[in-house]
Amino acid sequence: NKKITIAIDGFSSTGKSTIAKQLAKQLGYVYVDSGAMYRAVTLYAMQNNFIGETYFKVETLIEQLPTIDISFVFNEALGFAEVYLNGINVEKNIRTLEVSGFVSKVAAVPEVRKQLVDQQRKIGENKGVVMDGRDIGTVVFPNADLKLFVTASAGTRAERRYKELIERGDRVDYNAVLKNVQERDYMDSNRKDSPLVKAKDAIEIDNSNMSVEEQFEIISDLVNKAI
Ligand code: C5P
Repeated sequence: NKKITIAIDGFSSTGKSTIAKQLAKQLGYVYVDSGAMYRAVTLYAMQNNFIGETYFKVETLIEQLPTIDISFVFNEALGFAEVYLNGINVEKNIRTLEVSGFVSKVAAVPEVRKQLVDQQRKIGENKGVVMDGRDIGTVVFPNADLKLFVTASAGTRAERRYKELIERGDRVDYNAVLKNVQERDYMDSNRKDSPLVKAKDAIEIDNSNMSVEEQFEIISDLVNKAI
């Protein structure tokens, strides 16, 4: 079997990471959650008061970009890599609704994208990688061997994200989660640099009415054909 590159893109909370993690585990590939990288930069901007409800000090963030170190460390117990910001595990801190509220603004900054895309390409240079995000099949790995574009209705996605947050103990309001999902879809699809679009050669999977198992069967078939 040859090693391949798998790109999984789509709107927020479509379950991309569930698919990607499962595939990586099954194939013995590296899984990269590119959204976690944008979230980590956003957390950094929040911690340093570069971004808030009424302001965004873009220039200052850009200046400090070279000092922001984002890395992945494999967690044996969990079976996947966790994201670290300047040496600190931020896996939990980057998943809050607050970070979700700012991340699409930070991800629209071309300098931020350039730095993270360079790093993503380096991680994937030897193939054997499953990466999920918004621009993986279009920008990061336009030559990926298999490209999936995952969709689901906004309501389905908000419900999934809401459950996830509640299970983690975050006291969030369903409508606030739905609003965030819709706002991010809009911003991610309409930004100038690397907007979220389906790559021409991506295979679309709408999982609104699919179980995780059904979905995985379909995807496993696609992977077997690509390998
Ligand atoms: O995948 P996740 O929902 O965690 O991504 C968070 C945000 O990061 C997205 O809403 C998007 O603004 C940004 N992102 C991006 N490009 C990627 C991955 C994520 O712009 N490849």
